[in-house]
Amino acid sequence: MWNNPFDRRKFLVAMAGLGSLLTSPSCKSEEKGKPISYSETPDPISFAPIENVRIGFVGLGVRGSNHIRKLLDIAGCQIVCVCDIVPEKVKRIQQSAIDKGFPEPKGYSRDEVDYKRMCENEDFDLLITATPWELHAPICIEGMKNGKHTATEVPGCTTVDACWELVEASEKYRKHCILLENYCYFQEILAIDNMIRKGLFGNPLHVYAGYQKEAMYYQVTSSGELTFSGEGHNNSYGNVYPTHHAGPSAKWMDINRGDNFDYLVSMGCGNVAFNQYSRERFGPDHPLSTRKFNMADISNTMIMTKEGRTLHLILDTILPRPGRHYFRLQAERGIYENIERRLHIHNLSPGKYTGLEENPYANKRMWESLDTYLDEHDHPVWKKFHKPDLREAGHAGADFVIMRKLVNGFNLGAYPDIDVYDLAAWSCLVELTEKSARNGSQPVKIPDFTRGKWKTRKPLPIVI
Ligand SMILES: NC(=O)c1ccc[n+]([C@@H]2O[C@H](COP(=O)([O-])OP(=O)(O)OC[C@H]3O[C@@H](n4cnc5c(N)ncnc54)[C@H](O)[C@@H]3O)[C@@H](O)[C@H]2O)c1
Repeated sequence: MWNNPFDRRKFLVAMAGLGSLLTSPSCKSEEKGKPISYSETPDPISFAPIENVRIGFVGLGVRGSNHIRKLLDIAGCQIVCVCDIVPEKVKRIQQSAIDKGFPEPKGYSRDEVDYKRMCENEDFDLLITATPWELHAPICIEGMKNGKHTATEVPGCTTVDACWELVEASEKYRKHCILLENYCYFQEILAIDNMIRKGLFGNPLHVYAGYQKEAMYYQVTSSGELTFSGEGHNNSYGNVYPTHHAGPSAKWMDINRGDNFDYLVSMGCGNVAFNQYSRERFGPDHPLSTRKFNMADISNTMIMTKEGRTLHLILDTILPRPGRHYFRLQAERGIYENIERRLHIHNLSPGKYTGLEENPYANKRMWESLDTYLDEHDHPVWKKFHKPDLREAGHAGADFVIMRKLVNGFNLGAYPDIDVYDLAAWSCLVELTEKSARNGSQPVKIPDFTRGKWKTRKPLPIVI
């Protein structure tokens, strides 16, 4: 049986999926709602398991270095080549690999397009990019063209055209293009996902999801210049960084696997943040203190799905505020709020709806802590890796999960749980929110990048 790589792949994928399901806690809640079940994927891009994933990495800045640090500790992979326009960054990573006992990765830092030479010259399996936003698509396309699977930091790209180019390249070259959306792997996001799949919440109807933390350090350098993120913000009325919150929400709602984004309306407000920040930090005469910005400080978007669900998406990262990100799910049979780590599930949580028979204004329903449910409903991924080092890994452990999962998926030959269609559906919001907000909040259609396949594609388990 193992002489045939296809049989072996099918077996490993099946066992991996089954493993995930088998480690799920038993579902005594099935009678409380219709469970949504995972199933084997009929998706087209398949590959044999890769025992040792050979990785080429482009973009060795803050994020890239963090990823590489983890990859050097994860079994089943090897960094074989690295690229950055800054030669010192290449040298530093080469030394880190040597220090960990690996052969020196080949370095590329000749010019802005040296990643092309790396893709053409080097033999490797997976290209990862953590460069500024506009480079993600060209780098991934170059990788796929040269026979590599690809994975990119967020957002996957910033225009609808680039989304289609990535989808078409993935289909044409039959290579994956994975979005490294770490917010999909937070412990509580996955626990709620697990509870949705078990039917505890019933149909997930509405999500409020806000990236609401002050991140001016990411927009303006200490010497007073706009970073690539600041450049992205500084002429947009839309949501320039949508995937952190669209991603987990889309997962809960089975977008591209049973549902599909349909259209959106967006509006932006405020235009003071950059001037205000610059005046205080760099003084009234600094160019950023006086420049008239053609942008919004806060982006608000409502998305309607084809199955009638709604998503309220917010980007609010440049005004003064304590940092938080927000997720609130309202489903047919219950509600979850991440801020207080609390939930209420109809006929399961304490308290009841008393309005009809007693006082019409009374509602004795009570909140419960999410922690009450974690023992039973924590996601198998988190059960497996719930260790102290996970907590130290950045983004509350999600940065470890995403890299471990990425490598393991290739080791097993498993279809990725965030594929190019997810990348496109979440990343196209950069352009489309801007378009609606600039145009009096006119509704804007969201392309169906699956070309109708969302109706038959099934939710996938996370293989780890
Ligand atoms: N998922 C998350 O939580 C998270 C957090 C931070 C950043 N990010 C994303 O990671 C990406 C990188 O962000 P960062 O903070 O590391 O930025 P950074 O500026 O620290 O790193 C970018 C690197 O890309 C290199 N680079 C630029 N042009 C290049 C080219 N043509 N060829 C090769 N290398 C090139 C730069 O020299 C730099 O080293 C961005 O897309 C960002 O949105 C994601």
